[in-house]
Amino acid sequence: LQEGLAMKVSVIGPTGYTGRELVRILLRHGKVEDFLLFGRQEAYFHKEYPEFLGVCEKKIELLEAQKAVQGMDAVFIALPHKVSMEVTPLIRQADKKIKIIDLSADYRLTGADIYKRAYGVEHKDPGYLGKYVYGLCEANREAIRQARFVANPGCYPTSVLIPLIPLMEKGMLEGTVIADCKSGASGAGKSLSQMLHFVECNENIVPYKIFQHQHAYEMAQFMGFFDKSLDLIFTPQLLPIDTGILTVLYIKLKKSADKEKVKALYLERFAGEKFVRVLPESDMPTPAKVRNSNFCDINVFADKQKEYIIVVSAIDNLIKGGSGQAVQNLNIMSGLEEGEGLL
Ligand SMILES: NC(=O)c1ccc[n+]([C@@H]2O[C@H](COP(=O)([O-])OP(=O)(O)OC[C@H]3O[C@@H](n4cnc5c(N)ncnc54)[C@H](OP(=O)(O)O)[C@@H]3O)[C@@H](O)[C@H]2O)c1
Repeated sequence: LQEGLAMKVSVIGPTGYTGRELVRILLRHGKVEDFLLFGRQEAYFHKEYPEFLGVCEKKIELLEAQKAVQGMDAVFIALPHKVSMEVTPLIRQADKKIKIIDLSADYRLTGADIYKRAYGVEHKDPGYLGKYVYGLCEANREAIRQARFVANPGCYPTSVLIPLIPLMEKGMLEGTVIADCKSGASGAGKSLSQMLHFVECNENIVPYKIFQHQHAYEMAQFMGFFDKSLDLIFTPQLLPIDTGILTVLYIKLKKSADKEKVKALYLERFAGEKFVRVLPESDMPTPAKVRNSNFCDINVFADKQKEYIIVVSAIDNLIKGGSGQAVQNLNIMSGLEEGEGLL
């Protein structure tokens, strides 16, 4: 995008939680001149989300691929997995140059076999698996800059993988990383389920899908790009809060690695990253500190006597774990200032 030029984008799925946050961010994005909303039925955005009365009263139009791409620079797809892979080919056919940022999981995995294992169905657009850049901005910035298609990472993977970047890049990890992760209820989107019933989750904390969570495949795939011998144990848990993920990583370093210097490595690696804050001393990352922001807060704890180091991270699942990261990707793909609309 040339300096000063404004963009137009479409959001498909604006009635979902990530769609709602995309709208909130796009409204304050200085380079997005206009955006259109498309859903599976006609509606008005402020009727779906009354907090937007007088702020965004746009019509949500019935999705038609041609309308969603016409005059647009990019399309955000904020649909559930399995639905995105039905809609995305129509978007691509309607405009062969359009940029696509997919918030769903449908194009994150690079093979049809692994997709079937993770999501239990055959992929309907397998020719495009592996053609999307995995949009973990802090790791893949150069590839994202060149990309037309970006698969926005999942919320749990964002909270686990960003804090692993410094150690993976330096080849310091060994064996199995244990990721103990707790997410607020919006992580599951707006559909209701027994587990998300107020009476079930309020004043409670519930582990779920142990060894069965679909995001484990995405994390293992990314870790495998650095070192195929690495493994991950991931325990997702539901916290009775609206938004936020708290991740505690138990990490074994190679014998040659200097535990004492790990914090300095994090400070150095993330010094130029606008949205990663390595916290001072024993200041703890918490979901409350990053709520409604695109930050990933991290702190690192090492003890000479202990075999494992502990790295703690916190993100807002809907922002850095979803719509904020998606707009960060748009900014990178379009040559804009990376924080546009996000600070
Ligand atoms: N929630 C998070 O923290 C988070 C973070 C990162 C990524 N993601 C991913 O981002 C995507 C959207 O998540 P979300 O939390 O925003 O989900 P959500 O709240 O459940 O919203 C889903 C959206 O998709 C639409 N939709 C559902 N089924 C559809 C169908 N069969 N055909 C057409 N439209 C359909 C819904 O429209 P209606 O209003 O008509 O139902 C709604 O607009 C998902 O793939 C999710 O895994 C979510």
